[in-house]
Amino acid sequence: MDYESAYRAIAQLAQQSNAAQAIVNYLHDHFASYSWVGLYWVEGSDLVLGEWKGPEATEHTRIAIGTGVCGAAVASGRTEIVGDVSCDPRYLACFPSTKSEIVVPIFTGKRVIGEIDIDGSALNAFGAEDQRFLERVAAVLADVGTRTSTARAAGR
Ligand code: SME
Repeated sequence: MDYESAYRAIAQLAQQSNAAQAIVNYLHDHFASYSWVGLYWVEGSDLVLGEWKGPEATEHTRIAIGTGVCGAAVASGRTEIVGDVSCDPRYLACFPSTKSEIVVPIFTGKRVIGEIDIDGSALNAFGAEDQRFLERVAAVLADVGTRTSTARAAGR
């Protein structure tokens, strides 16, 4: 999949009312190496699983910030790429098929409001191009996430 075309398609999807789920579905369906794609949103001192698409549900629907690769990325505000999850002591196992993982924080200004979490079934499934692309997708999701939480707070 060509990253630039994917980015343009995702920017379009961001206009929809169910944008976050549509973007997750797009990432999962268009990138063969993105085996499981999920969004976690910050709620207090936890990350709470929101939209996701993959072959199975994860038991990790709430993760304390600072725990796991997911929690580490939020705590540091930096993208985490783990080429071999079996070698990372922070890794919280979800699926036996997962070999590698990328976690990309979603920012509003300097504040992390959530993250994209993607599991790969191959070792070293994610590289610098995925990081650059997904950081741009995270900027799109920041706007979507803010709209979603404003709507939620307003009871819409
Ligand atoms: N592996 C993550 C937990 C989330 S699941 O991959 C969906 C972690 O180490 O934080």
